Amino acid sequence: MDKKYLYISTIGCQMNVHDSEQMAALMEKEGYVGTKDVNQADLIILNTCSIREKAAQKVMSSLGRFRRLKEKKTNLIIGVSGCVAQQLGDRLLMKVPDLDLVLGTHNIHRLPEFIAEIEKTGTKIVETSLSEETPSLGIVTLPQIGQVTAFVTIMQGCNNFCAYCVVPYLRGREESRTQEDILNEIRNLAGIGVKEVTLLGQNVNSYARSTKGASGFVGLLNEIEKIEGIKRIRFTTSHPKDISESLIAGFAGLSKLCKHIHLPVQSGSDRILSLMNRKYTKFDYLAKVANLRKSCPDISITSDVIVGFPGETDGDFQETIDMMNEIRFDNLFSFKYSERQGTAALKMNSKVSEPVKMERLRILQALQEEHTLEKNKALEGRREEVLVEGFSKNCREDVMGRTSTNKIVNFAGHGNLIGEIVPVYIKEAYLHSLRGEML
Ligand code: 5AD
Ligand code: SF4
Repeated sequence: MDKKYLYISTIGCQMNVHDSEQMAALMEKEGYVGTKDVNQADLIILNTCSIREKAAQKVMSSLGRFRRLKEKKTNLIIGVSGCVAQQLGDRLLMKVPDLDLVLGTHNIHRLPEFIAEIEKTGTKIVETSLSEETPSLGIVTLPQIGQVTAFVTIMQGCNNFCAYCVVPYLRGREESRTQEDILNEIRNLAGIGVKEVTLLGQNVNSYARSTKGASGFVGLLNEIEKIEGIKRIRFTTSHPKDISESLIAGFAGLSKLCKHIHLPVQSGSDRILSLMNRKYTKFDYLAKVANLRKSCPDISITSDVIVGFPGETDGDFQETIDMMNEIRFDNLFSFKYSERQGTAALKMNSKVSEPVKMERLRILQALQEEHTLEKNKALEGRREEVLVEGFSKNCREDVMGRTSTNKIVNFAGHGNLIGEIVPVYIKEAYLHSLRGEML
């Protein structure tokens, strides 16, 4: 088999990062070797995100760059996958005629077949059908030698239809993998030395909800807990309305479950939460946070907030700020509301102007920086258990790892610590990381 090179560019969330890993694994079997040099590529895949307009625009600018490479290398194949591919389908081919493949979110498993067809006949392919059951859910990736952490998809899709969100339209309805499939994949990962798994899904708390006889998300966590070699379990993302009492109790009872939860709140105003179709109130959310902290006092809580949702007044925004002051998140990802085709919010009145959105984002981010630093500083002088993932970005004399609460720690250490959980004394805290000393 001839050696060919695959370059994948990924925009978007961890789910997309993992989809890219899956595509690389599939194409490796066909003789494609991954490359970080786009000029070397025989096949370029742009794995896209459409959650906000900005991410979708990034796709067009990247494609402009890749198209020019085709002038020099006429047999170069360019494909677009992910949410923008799903959304635009053959319209994308009309916009960018040099494109060879438009691959929707449920069709990743067909990538090798499509590439073989394009190589043979030069035909252009668009496949964006959404099926109820998709084999792409179970594609197993090939971790690198020495890889410490790995993503494992447990479900995909979403049934919630939040008023601002395109995900239910582009990723389809919720679909869960079988527990056995997931456990087998994790056992294999443990067998080759992976120490930490992050379970992925748009709404992991509804894992196997509609599967008869299944023990749900907490049942799955209980089973993963038993797998030898796996030392830590993380998951993302959760919907506040679906966080169960048993999961909250799991933060106290499951020894491998990391003390971190990403729990997107979106707004602190009940009126806006209702318009967003989030199906919980600020009171419900605060109660979940209180219960989480009761079950696990050290838990770190991160969240997402959208500013400038249609109809958001200064008063609504102030309620979000008040809630942030009350909860004090460890970290917060905040976004300006972005209009998306097909969503319910598109038709809502009282749109918030761009300058107001920008100002609200600025205020909110400045406040969050204070809270993040305050939370990180509280760790100074403490001993933390750190799973070492690799060398530090800027210094090969240092290693980096994470606390159970998902804070990055850098400290002087040898490469043979990679994959070990070690005790580290936290000397200094910054906004994005901690500096420590191994004990
Ligand atoms: N505009 C702005 N932010 C959005 N998100 C989802 N859809 C939109 C949108 N239309 C944010 C939400 C979600 C995160 C992944 O992206 O906060 O939790
Ligand atoms: Fe989008 Fe809401 Fe589903 Fe999350 S829960 S993916 S925000 S529709």
